[in-house]
Amino acid sequence: ETAQRLTRLAELVRDVPDFPEPGVLFRDITPVLADAEALTVVATELAALVGDADLVAGVEARGFLIGSAAAVVAGVGVVPVRKAGKLPRVAASRSYALEYGEATLELPDGVVAPGTRVFVVDDVLATGGTAAATCALLADVGATVTGFGTLVELAALGGRAALADTEVHALLTY
Ligand code: PRP
Repeated sequence: ETAQRLTRLAELVRDVPDFPEPGVLFRDITPVLADAEALTVVATELAALVGDADLVAGVEARGFLIGSAAAVVAGVGVVPVRKAGKLPRVAASRSYALEYGEATLELPDGVVAPGTRVFVVDDVLATGGTAAATCALLADVGATVTGFGTLVELAALGGRAALADTEVHALLTY
């Protein structure tokens, strides 16, 4: 049954060639989010992984959508992990390397108390840079990361290796 539900999710992921640059196959999850049943499956499957965590962290931008859906089903709150410059008060900031240049993620101040058990959610795991920076941010404020859940894992890009200390769960793997 779960396998059937995941097959349905996979059918809804739209492959977009040559985005964001030539030669890259973009896995567009927009149709998954727009389908009521599929969104429920995503929220329910991820909520099961939240387990006894106190809080979900959703990573900008699509991680906000599925992270909050999972948090509602799991009965916990959600904290947004944001790109630099969006938050009025920042508890921690982490930069990580991109193919060209670098990116910075920030955690809002005053929301994640030391000792909080946090489950991290994003839409796609690629190189793992984003997820690793998110886990580092949570460690910076003394939180415990209980795991990482993603809708899509692009296995060839090695994200799991970048998250060696974190349990990684993917609903769909390419
Ligand atoms: C995408 C995706 C993940 C990240 C994964 O976000 O939503 O957050 O890349 O890549 P990585 O594992 O190589 O770090 P993007 O930077 O496109 O931002 P957006 O969600 O705000 O569009």
